Amino acid sequence: MSVLFSPWTVRSVTVRNRVVVSPMCQYSAVDGVPDEWHLVHLGSRAVGGAGLVLSEATAVEARGRISPGDTGIWNAEQVAAWRPVVEFIKGQGAVAGVQLAHAGRKASVYSPLVGQDGELAEADGRWTTVAPSAVRFAESYPLPQALAKAEIDELVATFAQAARNAVEAGFEVVEVHAAHGYLLHQFLSPLSNLRDDEYGGDLAGRLRFPVAVVEAVRAAVPDGVAVFVRISASDWVDGGLTVDDAVEISRAFAAAGADLIDVSTGGNVATAKIPVGPGYQVPFADAVRRKADVATGTVGLITDPRQAEAILADGSADLVLLGRELLRDPYWPLHAAAALGAEVTPPTQYARAF
Ligand SMILES: Cc1cc2nc3c(=O)[nH]c(=O)nc-3n(C[C@H](O)[C@H](O)[C@H](O)COP(=O)(O)O)c2cc1C
Repeated sequence: MSVLFSPWTVRSVTVRNRVVVSPMCQYSAVDGVPDEWHLVHLGSRAVGGAGLVLSEATAVEARGRISPGDTGIWNAEQVAAWRPVVEFIKGQGAVAGVQLAHAGRKASVYSPLVGQDGELAEADGRWTTVAPSAVRFAESYPLPQALAKAEIDELVATFAQAARNAVEAGFEVVEVHAAHGYLLHQFLSPLSNLRDDEYGGDLAGRLRFPVAVVEAVRAAVPDGVAVFVRISASDWVDGGLTVDDAVEISRAFAAAGADLIDVSTGGNVATAKIPVGPGYQVPFADAVRRKADVATGTVGLITDPRQAEAILADGSADLVLLGRELLRDPYWPLHAAAALGAEVTPPTQYARAF
């Protein structure tokens, strides 16, 4: 019996298998509105058999976009454009999830599609970025403004409204992006949060805003909708977040209503040296799952069906997320099922091929 191809249930959500499409920016939206690209891109991975299809980092407000090409979910036009994407994913038997994001000090930069790095020129629509403290991510990035307390309260409400919008669009999983050096991670890490008010200082202070966001998102969605949180379990530099911090952070998010912690690492320090290799982030998901007693997802260089199966069988995670391997092969779940001797049903339109 394959664990990878067994269902998993949280709240009212049941995924047909444990393969998750990891959030991947496509930088292809205009004014935050997803289009045919997003339908075909995400839809193909649902056709390919994934259990859960997560959208790319989708901004909760315009200044929270990394680049002008990011998707958003702060207005009615965006919600209406997400709806057919979500319906298609669900029609293929997959669950549709959205990653709610705010890039903070990593916003207002060129997308990789443009072939230019760093801060947008004024002519290309540069905007003012915000962060816990007025510290750049890197030399080529914008200098952010430190958020005032009232603005932090507003942002909590902004995340909650985006979560309501996500439900209106039909999403059944809402993942709060608190990883990869974006706004919530900027608050969590002592390297980017230099505040001396109640939103900074010790870990309890640095958790205050991110926890308020998770609580507000949880309260904004119906009971049946699942809330995930993606964290970076290490900053990979001395003085940054460690796996022990990650366990504490995960406990706090679980208490705030997170159903699963999606455990990634890095992204907040441009110069960090990350020892990348197959499954290199699995030990972090394992530590969080065992010590914080919360369901986890794991991600990072998971490419082989037996590798994915072993991670779940070992109890290191409940779900595996695949990024680039699913770009190379949207039918990875169907191929993996065959390799593991599991039964899956391909789309009836494709039945003669499987
Ligand atoms: C093109 C691309 C875009 C990405 N965009 C996001 C994103 O929007 N949100 C996020 O949390 N991670 C993002 N990531 C990171 C992936 O979700 C994943 O964590 C990472 O690629 C490692 O997994 P992999 O080795 O299976 O690709 C992106 C990765 C790629 C390759």
